[in-house]
Amino acid sequence: MKTLGLYIHIPFCMSKCEYCDFYSVANNSESLKDRYINALAAHMKEYGPQARDYVINSIYFGGGTPSLLNEKQLKFIMKNIKSCFNISPICETSMEVNPGTVDAEKLSSFRKCGINRLSIGVQSFVDDDLKAAGRIHSSEDAYKAINDARKAKFGNVSIDLMYGLPNQTLQSVVDNVNTASGLEVDHVSLYGLKIEEGTPFWFNRHKLMLPDEETERNMYFTAVGLLEHSGFRQYEISNFAKRNKACRHNLKYWRASEYLGLGPGAHSYFAGKRFSFKKSISLYLDSFDPSKTTVEQLVDEYIDIPYSSRIAEYVMLNFRLNLGIDCQAFRKQFGQNFNDIYYDRILPYINSGHIVKTKNGYAFSLDGMYVSNYILARIIDFDMIIPGTN
Ligand SMILES: C[S@@+](CC[C@H](N)C(=O)[O-])C[C@H]1O[C@@H](n2cnc3c(N)ncnc32)[C@H](O)[C@@H]1O
Ligand code: SF4
Repeated sequence: MKTLGLYIHIPFCMSKCEYCDFYSVANNSESLKDRYINALAAHMKEYGPQARDYVINSIYFGGGTPSLLNEKQLKFIMKNIKSCFNISPICETSMEVNPGTVDAEKLSSFRKCGINRLSIGVQSFVDDDLKAAGRIHSSEDAYKAINDARKAKFGNVSIDLMYGLPNQTLQSVVDNVNTASGLEVDHVSLYGLKIEEGTPFWFNRHKLMLPDEETERNMYFTAVGLLEHSGFRQYEISNFAKRNKACRHNLKYWRASEYLGLGPGAHSYFAGKRFSFKKSISLYLDSFDPSKTTVEQLVDEYIDIPYSSRIAEYVMLNFRLNLGIDCQAFRKQFGQNFNDIYYDRILPYINSGHIVKTKNGYAFSLDGMYVSNYILARIIDFDMIIPGTN
């Protein structure tokens, strides 16, 4: 059977953080969440038959803030997942957790419902950073959430850290990474602040005291060095894991493997097509309300990817991983020689040291990873004509 990742979007937060443009609303009403999970269950019933040839070996509850679900709501979702899809007995089941929304008892109930991996949104252990970012929690809450996760017997705990926040210093990033290394966590995601259009940070961008380019670069390189030194192996531009703790679900995104995303704003790569659902909770609820059904309006984008674009997409995604491109795997997947198509394009970056030759192909050096978006934009051409493809 083919494997599939399942993403479940929970679009509710206590309040919106200043930098965030993930689709979510500041609303924690139990009745709204109850209506939402009923719509999710109907959505699963719609896709279950289409996924009957797949086995799901990763489930990811993302948001928004999935940790705002109560035990009964999570149990209901898990029961519906199990009745609609084939679930692997060794499924990785992750949940994003905001430290301001959980305690040991709640985490223990999540564990009992089948969650076996947590991704805790710490962002920083410095209270001033958290305040500037509009987070609802303190550093104390973050320590407690990590501790409570261990008490609740989670054997796979990840934390998110951000760098490049307003007024943040290099020393504060060093302290954050050292603190993370001293705690019992298995995985760290390290994100550089992106000022996303339409967020409060974007509207105030001229007033924000952001670190300059050189400092931000130093933050990334120093943090990567410290994490590697503490036993976290970098496996993707922003992701670091202890042995065997790389996130199976997120790896599917970068390996261009299949996943199905349910909920408003969720994206899928399923049965050779990429699609997403509109970012509207009310449309989502109406779509599965038998009296109003608007289900055909729910799909936002539907892209049947031509074969040559699949190659471009594969190269773009795999280059994010530290293993980079495996030329033999590329040939196996596309029946083409990677060097025939891409060598001339990557040569300038091999010469500049941004791309290095590996045992099996090519990968970014750390310098290359830092400017990967710039380089990939120059290497990848989705409209490129590749002989032998159409
Ligand atoms: C959906 S959120 C995580 C879960 C939870 N809602 C929370 O915030 O604790 C995913 C992560 O993306 C990162 N993130 C969100 N917006 C970002 C931005 N504009 N720039 C960089 N990282 C961002 C944060 O580290 C955040 O924890
Ligand atoms: S970062 Fe997390 S808690 Fe903050 S608004 Fe975004 S999804 Fe919600």
